[in-house]
Amino acid sequence: MSASFESRIAHYVSRVENVLDEVLPAATVQPKRLHDAMRYAVFNGGKRVRPLLVYAAGECLGLREDALDAPAAAIELIHAFSLVHDDLPAMDDDDIRRGKPTVHRQFDEATAILAADALQPLAFSVLANVGDAPPGASARLVGIVADAAGSIGMTGGQSMDLAAEGKSLTVDEIEHMYALKTGALIHAAVMCAAALSENLPDDRASAIDAFGRTIGIAFQIKDDILDVEGDTEVIGKRSGADQRLGKATFPGLVGIDEARARCGSLLRSALEQLDDFGADADSLRWLARFVVERGN
Ligand code: IPE
Ligand code: IPE
Ligand code: MG
Ligand code: MG
Ligand code: MG
Repeated sequence: MSASFESRIAHYVSRVENVLDEVLPAATVQPKRLHDAMRYAVFNGGKRVRPLLVYAAGECLGLREDALDAPAAAIELIHAFSLVHDDLPAMDDDDIRRGKPTVHRQFDEATAILAADALQPLAFSVLANVGDAPPGASARLVGIVADAAGSIGMTGGQSMDLAAEGKSLTVDEIEHMYALKTGALIHAAVMCAAALSENLPDDRASAIDAFGRTIGIAFQIKDDILDVEGDTEVIGKRSGADQRLGKATFPGLVGIDEARARCGSLLRSALEQLDDFGADADSLRWLARFVVERGN
């Protein structure tokens, strides 16, 4: 990655982290334990891929950065909430996340449930207060993020993931589950930028839409590959967890080589969607490659 590119990514990460810091109540505000747990869930070393996708899609569509802060922060808050619940004993029962104890291990189960409960409405509060944006943009963003988080999106996919434990799914069923549990929020990240773009031609909107869907599925296949091949110290979560839980995963069904090949073909098709955008899509291209080449 070139130095200028690296600094652009660092700039976006610091931008969204500043917004998150502003909107999350301080850990000194009552109830202190709840606010402490909410901050722990958000500020513990996430890659911030979803906010980066919001900013990169905004770059691609010529949007101002400040218009993108609200959706970038809101989607990261929903993502953080999803991880806290995902790690609970009733779900994946994980004790390490981002190299540190999971929220229910660091605090307790009830606090973890409540912290996630509170992160979710905070995301919508951020979207309700979106700054300088086209008329109706705030309501459109709320709709996109709500659908992506709910039973037809991430939460629905998580339900399918649990129901599939110990079962054998087809490739299509697994990819459908991935499109919901992980793809929905990643897709929403780029669609929020599209929703803020005035007079976006239909062909460009469909290209961004298809890019988001494709890269979302690739993201989960890569997560599953890392679960098989990665070291706990590097991936920051216990490796081999999927096999222990009998999760229905892409590499579990077709093997690691086939899973890697599928990531490669999804990357190629995601990049093809960006062909008409020229250099404006360079950040999105970099992120798409990062999704399938990352080490954690
Ligand atoms: C992990 O997401 C959970 C999945 C949806 C696969 P990330 O890999 O984006 O997690 P962080 O936020 O960087 O820790
Ligand atoms: C998580 O999938 C998807 C979410 C919606 C949180 P995983 O259960 O594979 O995510 P990790 O591996 O625990 O991060
Ligand atoms: Mg899970
Ligand atoms: Mg998990
Ligand atoms: Mg995983």
